[in-house]
Amino acid sequence: MRIAVTGANSSVGQNLLAHIVAHTEHTVIAGARSQAALSTLPTPNRIEPRVISYDSAANLATALQGADCIVHLAGILIESKHTTYSHANVEATRCVAAAAELIGAKQLVFISVVGANPASTNAYFRSKGAAEELVAAARIGSSIIRTPILLGPGTAGASSLLGAASKTKTKVLGGGNYSMRPLDIDDLNMAILRCCEMSASSSSTYELVGPEAISYRNLILKTAALMGKRVEIGSIPIWVARLGAAISSRLKGGGITPTVLDVITADEVVTQNADVALNISLTPLADTLAKIAGKSK
Ligand SMILES: NC(=O)c1ccc[n+]([C@@H]2O[C@H](COP(=O)([O-])OP(=O)(O)OC[C@H]3O[C@@H](n4cnc5c(N)ncnc54)[C@H](OP(=O)(O)O)[C@@H]3O)[C@@H](O)[C@H]2O)c1
Repeated sequence: MRIAVTGANSSVGQNLLAHIVAHTEHTVIAGARSQAALSTLPTPNRIEPRVISYDSAANLATALQGADCIVHLAGILIESKHTTYSHANVEATRCVAAAAELIGAKQLVFISVVGANPASTNAYFRSKGAAEELVAAARIGSSIIRTPILLGPGTAGASSLLGAASKTKTKVLGGGNYSMRPLDIDDLNMAILRCCEMSASSSSTYELVGPEAISYRNLILKTAALMGKRVEIGSIPIWVARLGAAISSRLKGGGITPTVLDVITADEVVTQNADVALNISLTPLADTLAKIAGKSK
């Protein structure tokens, strides 16, 4: 199979490419917005790097021509002066869905987020919900995978967790008393490939989360213990952080906003985990933490 990946230089993209090369025979069109971004990718023969843009569906279709499946990863949580939710999450997805139709791809796989909802009061969740609607409306088979915090090499979640767990004292939002369902990036890679292999011409939405619910506070403590460390966890009141974020993001024109803080501290809850539907054997949380802390056997 030939798989095209948008946002191939993202942390999810880097992990997916490594997984495809190590575990499958598939070939990949790896799309990113600049040559500099492409230069960060692995370069075995089966990966063909291409600079892509999301300004024209026809041009994007030309760049992704020949793909059986398109995995759409480009998207942001943190807006900046140069990138907004509307541009990165909604309009880029509109372009990818149109391009997928133009080339007659068999499947379009979109990575969304637990909490995505086009009617959400949170601008990030709303943009991901709007993107989901565009994917579902495309006249080809599609799969939407809603994910929680992802743990794996280079993911933002793993970096902040390891950062907090390595300290002797750390302060986290609301004392870290919100519930998470961390998902191992290898499990997501497998889920993506299962979706690429589907033959249905309809659209399905999967909520795929890790096997264990845990507060962020306990996640830090567990990771620190695994690293042979003890960390004292203090609390930053969420209202104080929201106020600070509102001021600094307005001055900077982006960065951490109250919207981002609300996403980070939202409980990750799903009604039905898609591990069974996707035939994924979820990695135990302890094994995932051992992997990211470099302690796996
Ligand atoms: N990481 C997680 O825990 C997590 C959780 C839930 C969902 N997700 C979703 O998974 C996907 C990958 O996440 P990630 O954390 O791996 O991403 P990431 O490392 O932050 O990379 C973001 C990607 O989006 C691209 N991008 C930024 N602005 C763009 C724009 N205006 N138009 C088109 N592309 C743009 C970036 O390209 P440039 O390098 O060119 O800027 C890069 O390829 C995203 O859709 C994200 O919402 C991630």
